[in-house]
Amino acid sequence: MKISGNTFIVTGGASGLGESTIRKIVGQGANAVVIDLNEEGAKKLSEEFGEDRVLATGSVNVTDEAQVEKALALAVEHFGTIAGAIICHGVAGAVPSIPGFGPNNALTSFQQMKFVSDINYLAVFCVAQKVVEIIMKQEPLNEEGERGIIVMVSSVAGLDGSTSAYGPSKAAVAGLVLPLAREWAPFGIRVAGIAPGYFVTPMTTNLPEEYQSMLIPNVFPKRLGLPAEFANTVSYVLENVMVNGSILRLDAGVRLTY
Ligand SMILES: NC(=O)c1ccc[n+]([C@@H]2O[C@H](COP(=O)([O-])OP(=O)(O)OC[C@H]3O[C@@H](n4cnc5c(N)ncnc54)[C@H](O)[C@@H]3O)[C@@H](O)[C@H]2O)c1
Repeated sequence: MKISGNTFIVTGGASGLGESTIRKIVGQGANAVVIDLNEEGAKKLSEEFGEDRVLATGSVNVTDEAQVEKALALAVEHFGTIAGAIICHGVAGAVPSIPGFGPNNALTSFQQMKFVSDINYLAVFCVAQKVVEIIMKQEPLNEEGERGIIVMVSSVAGLDGSTSAYGPSKAAVAGLVLPLAREWAPFGIRVAGIAPGYFVTPMTTNLPEEYQSMLIPNVFPKRLGLPAEFANTVSYVLENVMVNGSILRLDAGVRLTY
């Protein structure tokens, strides 16, 4: 699909990988709609690029179906046709006020698992499904019959069996990609996943040093990924119609062993 002239929803667009994605695709001529809890960050981006290119939708909690619907209605009202969504919102773990169990509360509790799964997994499906409901009623965007695309962000933590509750929530996102690609294929809607290794964003700012040293051996390049490298991958996935139903690891060859 062409990027220029099309409109994409970006959840988590106010920070990190989502923000970098917006900068990339708007630079390539797209319009973007920011859906994020972080109202301030979304507003800043909209002011920087202008509301005719980047729409901020206020503070939106993606775990709340009604808030997602309201934000998408604003997007349609503002830009008309929607070509897809890049679903980048997420949390690395539960908030400190939700305790774990066992010694020092260090083991994952049901409440922690539920908090992370609601945001990282169920809300990903919520946004994807509601965007697709809009897209499937629109005319195809090109002669191939392509109507739209959903890009979901998984993680190597999900594919390598690391880090409960984060890892299982990201494994679940990976598990959505092929079944949804098959379900939505009759409408010309693609679904793709990207599974990043560790990237330099606010989410990884406080990564303990021992984690960083565990990541570095046997990989090239020996550094964390840059948000622009993630955004370049999104751009490639949007443009290449043959990318469908698969999950691309973007990790410099790292395999998590903890
Ligand atoms: N940074 C990494 O190393 C890395 C690696 C693998 C996967 N990921 C995934 O990439 C995605 C982007 O992460 P990032 O590193 O840019 O993190 P980030 O913290 O910079 O951005 C996450 C964004 O999600 C938003 N968000 C969180 N909960 C929300 C909610 N309930 N409703 C609406 N918005 C919400 C936050 O406000 C924030 O703007 C996440 O899904 C993350 O799990 C990141």
